[in-house]
Parts: sequence; C-alpha cells; structure tokens
Amino acid sequence: MALPFTSFRLLAPMEGITEPCFRDLVLARNPPDALGGTFTEFVRVVEHPMPAHALRRHLGEPRSVQPVGLQLMGAHVDALAETARRAIEVGARLVDLNFGCPAKGALRGCAGSALLREPRKVEALVRACVSALGEHPLTAKIRAGYDDDRLLVDLARAVEAGGAALLTVHCRTRAEAYCEHADWSRIASAVAAVSIPVCGNGGVGAHADFERMRSETGCAFAMVGRGALADPWIFSGRSVGTAEAARFLVEYAEALQVRGGAGIAGAAARVKQLLHFWTAGELVGDERHAWLREREPERLLGRLAEFAGGAASRVPSRNAPESSARGDRTS
Ligand SMILES: Cc1cc2nc3c(=O)[nH]c(=O)nc-3n(C[C@H](O)[C@H](O)[C@H](O)COP(=O)(O)O)c2cc1C
Repeated sequence: MALPFTSFRLLAPMEGITEPCFRDLVLARNPPDALGGTFTEFVRVVEHPMPAHALRRHLGEPRSVQPVGLQLMGAHVDALAETARRAIEVGARLVDLNFGCPAKGALRGCAGSALLREPRKVEALVRACVSALGEHPLTAKIRAGYDDDRLLVDLARAVEAGGAALLTVHCRTRAEAYCEHADWSRIASAVAAVSIPVCGNGGVGAHADFERMRSETGCAFAMVGRGALADPWIFSGRSVGTAEAARFLVEYAEALQVRGGAGIAGAAARVKQLLHFWTAGELVGDERHAWLREREPERLLGRLAEFAGGAASRVPSRNAPESSARGDRTS
C-alpha cells in the first residue's frame, strides 16, 4: 500500500503538542522534501466509536502538502475499526494505531503500551482497522516492549501480519519511559523481522541523526519527537537566528488564541511547554529557568515579541523577567 509521506523524516505524534496549530507551523517551516508528514495526538477510543466532529477537530484544516495521519489508541476492536473508517471519511489520509502510550489511563483501559504484552491482540486490532480503511494505509507505532524487549520481533510480525503498511518502532520499552539512552539495535531487529517498511524512532537529536538512524538500522523512515520541540527546523537542518526562533513561538501563541480556542494564559502555557526543550536560535540560552519562571502571560509573550522584532538584543524590556533575556546579558 503506497504511503503518502513526502520525505523519510517524520514528526512524531505528541499528546498536548501536535495539535493543528503546532503542526501547521512546523510543516510550513520545513519543505516537503525535508519533512514527510506527521500525526495528530492520540485520540482515545473506548467502548464507542469517536464522533466525526471530534476527529475533525484533531485533524484540523488541511493546510500542507504533507499528510497528517490520525492516531487512534484503544483496545475495543469494533469501536477502533469504526473510528478508523470515520477518520478517513473526515479527511485523514492515513490512520496510525498507538501501541506505546505508557500513561496510567491507557494501561487501565488495556490500551497503548498495555498491548505490548499481547501480540495476538495487536494483530487483531490492526487487521480490523486495515479492513475498515480499504485503500487507505494503516500504520502502527509500538515501543520495543513492555518491561523488556523479548516480544519485539513478535510484535513487529503481528503488525505486519495484520496488514499494516508501516511499522514505527520507538526503541525504548514502556519501562524505560523517555530515558536518555536509545538502543537503535532494536530498530534494526524489527527491520530484519518484517518486510514492510519500518520507521525508527527514539533519540534523534540533530538533523544528521535521521540519516544516521537509517544507515545504522536499515529503517526506511526516521521519526523525531522531542528533538523537534527543541528545534522545529531539525528536518531541514537550517540553523535559524534568535528573531526567527522567537517568531515561531509568537506565531504559535497567536494561532492558539485565534484558531485553537486558547486564552492568553493557555497560549503562554503551551509556549512554556516548548521552552522546556527549546534550543533553536539560542533564544533561551542558559536562562531557561528565568523564562519558565515568568508567571505573567503578557510579559512572556511580550518579551518573545521583542525578540521576534529583533529589537530585544539592543533594548532590554523594563518588564522582562529578571535576567530572562539575552538582551539583558548584553546590556
Ligand atoms: C509530550 C509527549 C507526548 C507524546 N504523545 C504521544 C502520542 O500521543 N502518541 C504516540 O504514539 N507517542 C507519543 N509520544 C512519544 C513520541 O511520539 C516518541 O515516540 C518519543 O518521544 C520518542 O521519540 P524522541 O526520543 O525523538 O522524543 C509522546 C512523547 C512526548 C514527549
């Protein structure tokens, strides 16, 4: 089944982050030959299929050449398959199944990473969704295992046997959560076990890592999560200046307020979430804590706007959080 991605580099699904506003900004800043596509945050499906309007909200308006896959997480075969069918009806170009979420809620519902102990169930869920999707591709994202990686090959084969068009392997187990170390040999094991394309994921921290992951593991696609929160230009490898980096965050806050239904406090909180990781443009430098301590949304966003205008490095703001800006250091 043909995959619609325009490049081998993909942006990972991230709950609380890859909603339409963030995705659109990243997609707009990386051309299709640099960033091949992305995914929604996971949509939890419990006993009943999700209504079309909820799926439409996660997908957002189609604004890019690159496809956005709608990611679903659940353990009820019929509800998941019907939701997958509706996802295509509302405009998704592919559907991804989440078999990796380590959150307690997912585990309680026996979904997400809970299914890493049950390859047969994974296969049944994949098969039901593949048959619901018809011509559209179904992809699946797993972790390397639950407590250890003993079932990795079984899981990879289950995804293939179910008929998925792509297997994404986040190379950490559920127990390893988001630890620093990423064992890419697990991606290589999955590649060796199946004949469908594999997307490697875990520990991509720089532009060169995408290609390195491909050459070291044989994976066809490489996906980045937190590395793109540090530097949304990681896909193209372009190095941006401080003003351009700040402009991204200013536009993000604006989009969240204009299109995303957020108030200024909500938008500032989302920006702070990115500032936790942010490295692009040396905007944050060694004053990350000062940025994150800023409690006034207006001051945080105002300070970013100054940087975006290119004036902040010359004119420190009187309202700036104490030593929060690069301009303060140079003044
Ligand atoms: C804040 C956050 C939210 C995430 N939400 C999802 C999600 O909704 N679906 C999913 O499959 N993985 C999710 N993940 C996992 C990422 O997609 C990715 O597998 C993981 O971050 C490893 O890649 P990295 O080392 O490049 O960050 C999330 C990760 C983070 C940090």
